[in-house]
Amino acid sequence: MPEEQLRVGVIGCGAGIFHLEGYAQEPRVRTVALAGLDTDRCDQLATRFGVERRYGDYHELLAQDDIDAVSVVVPNNLHLPVVTAALEAGKHVLVEKPLARNTAEGEEMVATAKRTGKLLGIAFQRRNRHDVRIVRDLVEQGELGRVYYGKAYWIRRSGIPGWGSWFTSKEAAGGGPLIDLGVHVLDMALYAMGNPTVTAVSGITFAEIGPQGKGNWPGRRSSMPAGAGHQYEVEDLAVALLRLEDGRALELEASWATYTEMTDEFGIQLYGSKGGAKIHAKDYAEVGTLQLFGDIGDTAVDSTPRLRAAHGHAAIIHDFVSAIRDGAPLSPSGEEGLERVRIIDAIYRSAELGHEVQIGS
Ligand SMILES: NC(=O)c1ccc[n+]([C@@H]2O[C@H](COP(=O)([O-])OP(=O)(O)OC[C@H]3O[C@@H](n4cnc5c(N)ncnc54)[C@H](O)[C@@H]3O)[C@@H](O)[C@H]2O)c1
Repeated sequence: MPEEQLRVGVIGCGAGIFHLEGYAQEPRVRTVALAGLDTDRCDQLATRFGVERRYGDYHELLAQDDIDAVSVVVPNNLHLPVVTAALEAGKHVLVEKPLARNTAEGEEMVATAKRTGKLLGIAFQRRNRHDVRIVRDLVEQGELGRVYYGKAYWIRRSGIPGWGSWFTSKEAAGGGPLIDLGVHVLDMALYAMGNPTVTAVSGITFAEIGPQGKGNWPGRRSSMPAGAGHQYEVEDLAVALLRLEDGRALELEASWATYTEMTDEFGIQLYGSKGGAKIHAKDYAEVGTLQLFGDIGDTAVDSTPRLRAAHGHAAIIHDFVSAIRDGAPLSPSGEEGLERVRIIDAIYRSAELGHEVQIGS
């Protein structure tokens, strides 16, 4: 007899669609409930994915005793209350990035997961890209030698995800492109480098284009229409230099709006003592994005590996379900989400203070 399916709920009907798609590919799961305040979109998603129960506020969904796990896909300021309530209600949780708006919130969430004995995972789905996996393996096998320097960036020409929505509210989002996009490429780079400890950061932020009312993402769906309440209160460009253990370094750049040739492009580059690697993804490309640099004999060689397109949320959800079902180790975990938040938090602090900030001291 087949094992009974895990019963999950999804909270949030925006990027919640990625979770619904991921669960739909997972035979060990049945998505039984969906919650969200934007009724029309939630109804459409419930119909499309055959989800039987639809709720407004998330408390109603969490009160359902037959739900084993939930995905939390709501604005950043709601991650702490919704994740806490879900863990307290006995549900395992997969939360969207960033884990939280700041370190204190993240620590509370990780502590609650520990206390309740429930799993807390985070959707750093870009780790599952084939190019990232290849680079991570090469670093692990020592093929690039000592990776002493890296760059990570996500640059948009005009990509503020809803001017005036929760994304541009400091209170609701915790920050701008650094916490929204920067956290993804920071995770990709540190993951590929083998998770070195970050000891100090120096950050600078700018808000030059957003406050002019420019730089909105054309056609981007948002649960809150542009101009529906908030002003532009966050940065539109953040740059940072991170000191890593063993004298290594990482440069980070994240922007929603910049006068540049880049439209919506992210990537990482690693410099090693025996070789290098560069991932550059334009408009979310998944293949043709990786270059490797090395030597064959005395000859410098650049190569372009053949890649498979790999969508991340399905793999994240597969691992989350395996961790619940079989006790497989969960990665990326809430703890890993918290490590990234500590760094983002320190970069914002450094930008405010105007000098380098140590981490963990
Ligand atoms: N991993 C990724 O690539 C990725 C992509 C986009 C967004 N995200 C993350 O997902 C989260 C949500 O972003 P989004 O783009 O979907 O935002 P959104 O504004 O499009 O959607 C937010 C959803 O939360 C719901 N919501 C708000 N308050 C609620 C409540 N009290 N009860 C139930 N539902 C409630 C809204 O109704 C809406 O459906 C953010 O943390 C964001 O960073 C991640």
